[in-house]
Amino acid sequence: MLASVPQPNRPTTVTRVNDVDFSPAAPDVAPLLDLTDPQVVADPYAALAACRSTAPVGWHGALGMYVATSHAACNAVLRDRALGRIFQERAPEADWDTFNWLHADSILDSEPPKHTRLRRLIAGAFGRGHVQRLAPRIEKLAAGLVQDCAATVSESGSVDVIEGLAEPLPVLVIAELLGVPEADRHLLRPWSQAIVRMYEMTRTPHEEAEAQRASREFAAYVEDLAADRARHPGEDLLSDLVAARDGSDRLSPRELVATAVLLLNAGHEASVNGFGNGLASLLAAGGDFGDPVTLVEEMLRHDSPLHLFERTATHDTVIEGVPVRAGQKIAALLGAANRDPAVFDDPDDFRPDRDPNPHLAFGAGIHFCVGAPLARLELATSAGVLLGRWPRLQVVEAVRRPTFVLRGYERLVIAPA
Ligand code: HEM
Repeated sequence: MLASVPQPNRPTTVTRVNDVDFSPAAPDVAPLLDLTDPQVVADPYAALAACRSTAPVGWHGALGMYVATSHAACNAVLRDRALGRIFQERAPEADWDTFNWLHADSILDSEPPKHTRLRRLIAGAFGRGHVQRLAPRIEKLAAGLVQDCAATVSESGSVDVIEGLAEPLPVLVIAELLGVPEADRHLLRPWSQAIVRMYEMTRTPHEEAEAQRASREFAAYVEDLAADRARHPGEDLLSDLVAARDGSDRLSPRELVATAVLLLNAGHEASVNGFGNGLASLLAAGGDFGDPVTLVEEMLRHDSPLHLFERTATHDTVIEGVPVRAGQKIAALLGAANRDPAVFDDPDDFRPDRDPNPHLAFGAGIHFCVGAPLARLELATSAGVLLGRWPRLQVVEAVRRPTFVLRGYERLVIAPA
């Protein structure tokens, strides 16, 4: 969902950024973290640890930006007000128009004062008891899905937990929350996946065309739905967003659509991967679990679903002693932060009862995840229901997606142990 990475170029000691030659003020860690190497993408943690041991802020010549590799440095990047999420429009505009405004008018890709305004309007609608009210519904949905998984296990001995639980639950929940009719819910994940493919390092012309098409279809769909809610308000979050006001301020039509699309995207992509990654980590560690609420934090820390968030310096600043000049970029590598031994004892171990667990999987600072309470509830409920049904599980087959920024499984087939 939420990050973008430029095309790689050759690492050099004197480099060009924004058409200016400069010598990076940190060691080049690109040779340690080659994001085009399938093995690094499959398991980046040794490479991330090597970068962190080299420097809390390194230069990544292939990405053309600094990378924060320690918990303290990532935290500083996410909180530094001289570093912003600055969306760069894609060209040609005729092809990318909808994709561009879906981002430019979204809370995630805005900075103050626009961000403050959007966040206030959205948080008001989001905080109106929607999440708490959903708890029994999420429990029921999870129970139904786990029952279907059990039927598959009875037939074939195993089940793909991504297809059976991790993916459908958050899609159903965010669709219900926003009031997307049941018949249309199957449209959401394909649209979302086509769009988030643009946040990875490499993509094909076909994938770009798909992202453009998905943006247009998704936006048109939400526009129609919002027009309907304006005429016939319901109990759903979309109706609340249509009505959301702060004094005389309200979301513009494009801001409304961009927000709903972001919530529908963000509202499930990371949750699907967070559950799959975390469950695989738990089972690899022996499967002992305690309180699902504490467990979920460790699931998100140990193998975080989102790995890279990029910022652009709007003024000169300094992160962990490294000067970042206006116009330069720096990325927070959340997977590196969440395995930092300075903050987490035995960081590569999965400890279901780890507490405190100050991971950065939901970010930090002004863009801290709006959906964190919902994601936590979904993940704890899914884990509780699944592990309640089968306290002992094993992984039969695991197929990773070949992506670094959004880290997750294509398939994770499990069976009772
Ligand atoms: C395990 C699941 C999730 C993870 C790991 C996650 C992670 C994140 C992170 C790291 C950010 C900050 C991005 C940045 O600083 O650049 C973020 C922002 C955001 N997330 Fe989530 N998220 C999850 C689930 C959700 C859900 C369920 C929703 C909505 C229902 C959601 C909505 C948002 C929104 C709207 C923002 C933008 C906030 C802002 O810019 O102020 N997320 N998320």
